Formats: sequence, structure tokens, C-alpha cells
Amino acid sequence: KLETRLKIIFSHLNAASFSSLSPFGAPCSQTSTLQHKDDDYVVIPRNLKYSLRVTSREQYASMYMDSIREPDMFWNKLAKDFFWKKEYATSQPLCKFNFDARKSPIFVEWFRGGYTNVCYNALDRHVIAGRGGQPALLWEGNDLGQDSCSTYQDLLNYTCQISNFLLSKNVVKGDRVCIYMPMIPELPCGMLACARIGAIHSVVFAGFSAEALAGRILDCCPKVVITCSAFKRGNKLVDLMGIVDTALQLCLERENFSPETCLIYENPRVASNKDTLWKEGRDLRWQDVIPCMDKKAPVEWMEAEDPLFMLYTSGSTGKPKGVVHTVGGYMVYSAVTFKYIFDHQPGDVFWCTADCGWITGHTYVTYGPLLNCATCVIYEGIPTWPDAGRYWQIIDKFNVTAFHTAPTAIRTLESSGDEFVKKHSRKSLKLLGSVGEPINPKAWWWYFEVVGEKRCPIVDTWWQTETGATMISPLPWAWPLKPGSATLPFFGVQLALVDENGNEKHGPCEGFLCIKGPWPGIARTLYQNHERYEESYFKTFYGYYTTGDGCRRDDDGYYWITGRIDDVINVSGHRISTGEVESVLNAHPACAEAAVVGIPHKVKGQGIYAFVVLMKEASASEELRISFLQSVRKEIGSFAAPEIIHWVTGLPKTRSGKVMRRILRKIACGEFDNLGDLSSLADPSVIDDILNTKP
Ligand code: PRX
Repeated sequence: KLETRLKIIFSHLNAASFSSLSPFGAPCSQTSTLQHKDDDYVVIPRNLKYSLRVTSREQYASMYMDSIREPDMFWNKLAKDFFWKKEYATSQPLCKFNFDARKSPIFVEWFRGGYTNVCYNALDRHVIAGRGGQPALLWEGNDLGQDSCSTYQDLLNYTCQISNFLLSKNVVKGDRVCIYMPMIPELPCGMLACARIGAIHSVVFAGFSAEALAGRILDCCPKVVITCSAFKRGNKLVDLMGIVDTALQLCLERENFSPETCLIYENPRVASNKDTLWKEGRDLRWQDVIPCMDKKAPVEWMEAEDPLFMLYTSGSTGKPKGVVHTVGGYMVYSAVTFKYIFDHQPGDVFWCTADCGWITGHTYVTYGPLLNCATCVIYEGIPTWPDAGRYWQIIDKFNVTAFHTAPTAIRTLESSGDEFVKKHSRKSLKLLGSVGEPINPKAWWWYFEVVGEKRCPIVDTWWQTETGATMISPLPWAWPLKPGSATLPFFGVQLALVDENGNEKHGPCEGFLCIKGPWPGIARTLYQNHERYEESYFKTFYGYYTTGDGCRRDDDGYYWITGRIDDVINVSGHRISTGEVESVLNAHPACAEAAVVGIPHKVKGQGIYAFVVLMKEASASEELRISFLQSVRKEIGSFAAPEIIHWVTGLPKTRSGKVMRRILRKIACGEFDNLGDLSSLADPSVIDDILNTKP
């Protein structure tokens, strides 16, 4: 029973760092002591060998208040760690903004007048400081035995060669470059090479289909597309060049558009069918051109508000949105969040398993770590290849100190059994991270107890593509954790929970999660569609950035993301977040994973349809169904009990692990012939399996 594992309070807290302790050993919050009666919480003993930046909630509260009351002083101090070719103006506010759509336009500016370069700060700055020999990227290939280590000097040389190639193709400041590559060092280097010369990179996840890639290429019209011949993910061969070729064909047919150059890294580990696809005049082989380039390249000094990159993300409606981030604010915010949230110290080895095709890969694989001169691991494969112990084996191999992954991966590995974890020591780990979706308490506990052996804090980081970097997260060791809560806002982040009329609610409550003021990492616009930017984020509640998530604040001021508000189900007038029901189902000992959607219901308006993947050892039965229903009745209320429980062997997911509810909704509603675009599914066979089973 979860309850019996709760209230784990470690006795050896460092009293000096927790100056005011509640009777239960937890530090007092600024306004109230930790109310542990409803919420289970965990205090991790601080290992004194770590020199922490923030050691208590009191220290955090004081820094947080400074960041809100004196934002200029606060951010100016942090921004000074970077090299600015020309200082931003300090005679005027560091940030200018308008969040009120009634007084359009919406805009945000930080560090105006400052000139810098993100690549220079991520590479040259460290090399100049004598750290060129430090390992920057530790690369692990899909198959065992494939690896490489690049130092900061290596990365700088390689990046300059790519920059020089782009310059030779007349790519100049403001031009777009599309990058469609697997997780090999050439991907972050390609991003940095663009940043160096002021080109805007648009990385497209290498799991997207030709159709999806074509749409993204046509939206931003890149001068160059950088790709790779082919690669392996697990035992699957992905013919990337074939997909690019099809996509570029579609671009030609649809809008008569073709990038001038397609640069193809020929993967030496995988055979490809390049002969049939090579297009004379368009395609160039990486290995033929990049090594000939000079290893020194000029730096384009960028104004703080110049665009750094764009990244497509899905909106609740319409085609993907090209979220645009700018140089100064993104650089400072991504680096500072990395430093504090992962408590980065020299000698640490950081591993974020995200793909660079997503924002997490931009911020916590490429920019955040390199701006902090970190050593980081990048891995080309999947968590279960060749078996479910691969992550833990890589952690031991590289002595990873901080490991950051997604709840989906955690649940997948949890259902494979503890023996895969326990085979490896994981002794180098000091902290764990979770990102991208709500982590249900059962997965949290498994991650905490089995992976982290109860000694590693879990930083559950909430943010979005649009926010640039983490917005809500624990600072490790600084305050007690509650499984499933991202806890408190990062410096400079003013959260507001508002009701349906846009009125801010105070104290413990639940509401729409909004952000009141600007933080440096906020996206500035949607590519060539500022109107949609204003519409999507600033017109739901005037004066606020609307996140699209629901959220609860508890007695301790901790924030609990309840899920997307677009996934809310209304049953008999009761609002139920799919995330809430899923969390209960997920906590059932027989459940490996669950997803719920709303279905029309004659009496209640909407009913709940649950898709449940059982643990290996469990088998479907009427008793089990009743036991699942009972746990929902018990945890939320009878109104939340699913109408239908459909036992399935897997859930339809994107390659980044997001459950595709759109498809589940259609299946639940019996619209089998109209499932829509299935191209971004990680494993399309899941759909057949679901359709072949009866609820
Ligand atoms: O619903 C929230 C969920 O993911 C959304 C943002 O998705 P994306 O832009 O793809 O960025 C993912 C990487 C940050 C959010 O609106 N989400 C993200 N992190 C968490 C989360 N939900 C709960 N807890 C989190 N830690």
C-alpha cells in the first residue's frame, strides 16, 4: 500500500540548512508549515559533498522574492555570467512587455541593445577559459559498443566547419536551416553552427513522417536541409534519406519549393540506398564537404531579440505552430534553469534522454548544459534496446550524476521488472529528473525507490515548448518532495490560478494555470503568425499567458498539474481531468499504463472510457475490472468511475511518448473508419491490436 510507504522522513537532515523545522522534520514554508496530512512527502538527506546553490525553502523564498520585486537586478546578475559583445542597456528596464491583448500587440523583450552569440557562449567561452580539453558530449550509439567522446575543443572545431559550410552556401543571418537527424553529435553541432552564424534552426524530430516533414519545410522555407542517410533505433532501420527525399518531392509538387542544398551525413554504421536517391545539384555528402572546411569560423553577433530557433509544436487545433525563441532571453533562462534545477557542479555528468527534435532536447541536451560547460551524454537508441537495462548500463558506463527522462520511459521500464535496474549499480547518480507529462505517484515511487534507491531527489519539471525552459520544479534537496507535484515556481515565474472568468484565485485552490508576467525564456511569437500567438496564449484570459493546463495549489503552496484543460471531461457537471483518473488507474498494482477519454453519454453528458495496459503478470477478469472501478470510486468519487474499461496491449503514442488521445477518442466513440492522421504514431500496430479487442 502506498500509504504505508509514505511519510518517509530521513533523520539525518542537515539542521543548518533547514533552519525552521516543523515537528515532522520538514522545513516550514514561508507562510505555513508543510501540511502533511493529505499529501505524502519525502525529504531527501543532503549529501554534504555537494555544494548546493539553494539549501532551503527559506533561501529560495528570499531569492524568489528578489526575482519578482527586482527583476532587473536579479537577471542582470545572472546574465553577466555570459559574454556580451555589446552590453544591453541598463539605463532602461531589462524587460519590456505587454501581456494584455486588449492593448495589442503582445510583445516581450529582454536585454534590448545587447549583442551576443549563443554558440560563442556555449563553446568558445569555455575553450578560451582553458576548458577545451573537457569532455562535452559522450555519445552512445544504438548498438552496444558504439560510442565517442568529444571535448569542447572538438565541438568548437566541428561546429565551425559546419558554420563555414553553411556560409559557403550563402546562408546568412535570419535564413532558416531545417535539421532532420538522429541523436548523433552532428545534430547538436548543426544547431550550434546555425546559432553561430545567426541562421534560425528548425529541428524536426527524426520520427516524423515525410508528410509531417514536408509541412514543416513548406512553412519555414529553409535554404538548407541537414539530414543523415539512415540510422537504427532499437532493431528498426530508419531510412531517413528516403523520407527526406519523399518530403522534398512533396514540397516541389505542392508549392514548387526546394531547399538549395541538402547536406547528408552518411552514417558509417548503417548501409543506405543513397545511389537511388542522390539528387545531383541538391544533395551533398557531409563527409565530402565538412572535413574540408576551416576549423575557425566567424561569429555573427546577434541582438538579444534576434531569433535563435523555431520549433514546431502541436496546438489543440490546426496545423503545428512554429514557436520562435530569441537569443538573449533563451540563452540566459535555459542556462540558469539548468544550473539551479540540476544543481550542476564541475565534474558532473548530465544525461537527458530527450531527443533534440523536442524542446527538452534543445534546452537540456544542447543549450542549457553546454552553456554551463557540462559534460553530457547523448544516446541514439531506445530504453529497451537490447534490453530494459540499457539506461542503467549507460549510467554506469559514463558515471552519470544527473539523469533526466520522461514518465513514459519510467513506466515502460517499471513494467519490465526491477531486475533490469538492479543488475547495474547506478552509484554515480545524485539526482533524477522527470519531464513532459504528469508523473503518477506509482511511477514516481518506483523511480525514487528502485532507480534512485531513496537517495536521489526527483526534480519533476513542468514547462512547455513555449516557455523555453522549466517553470515549476523542485530545487534538489532544498524542500520536501511530494510525488506527483512539480512543487514551486522557478525564479522570476509568477504563476496564477484563474477561474473560468479570468479572475485570479488565491490560497489553496484549483484553476487554469496562467503566468502573470514575462520571464526571459518565453517564446516571442509563432513563425510568421503573430496573430495566432496572441490568440493561442493571450486571449483566453486577458493579461495572462495561458498555459492550457489545469493546476491545483495545496496548503503548502505546492503546484500539482492536473493535465491539459482541453482533455477535461465533464461527467454529470463534474469536471474530471483525464490525468486525474489515469493517475488512479496507474496506481493500481495490476496496471502498467492507462489512458482515459470522454465519450458521449445520454444521461451524464460525458462518460469515461479507459484504455488499460495490464502488468505482465496480470490477466483481465471481471474481478479486476471491479477492482479498478473501486479504486477510482475511492480516490475521486463514483462519478469518475469509467463506463468502460478496455484491456489493451499498448497505447497509441507519438515517438516522443505522448499518448495520442485524439485516436483513442475516435476509437472510444466507435469512429473506426475515421481515425485521422496516424503518421506520427511510434507503433501503428498498436491500433490494430486495440481494434481487434473488445472492451
Ligand atoms: O501539459 C503539460 C505537459 O506537457 C505540456 C507541454 O508539452 P511540450 O510543449 O511538448 O513540452 C514538453 C516538455 C517540457 C504541458 O502543457 N507537461 C510537461 N511537463 C510536465 C507536464 N505535465 C505535468 N508535469 C510535468 N512535469
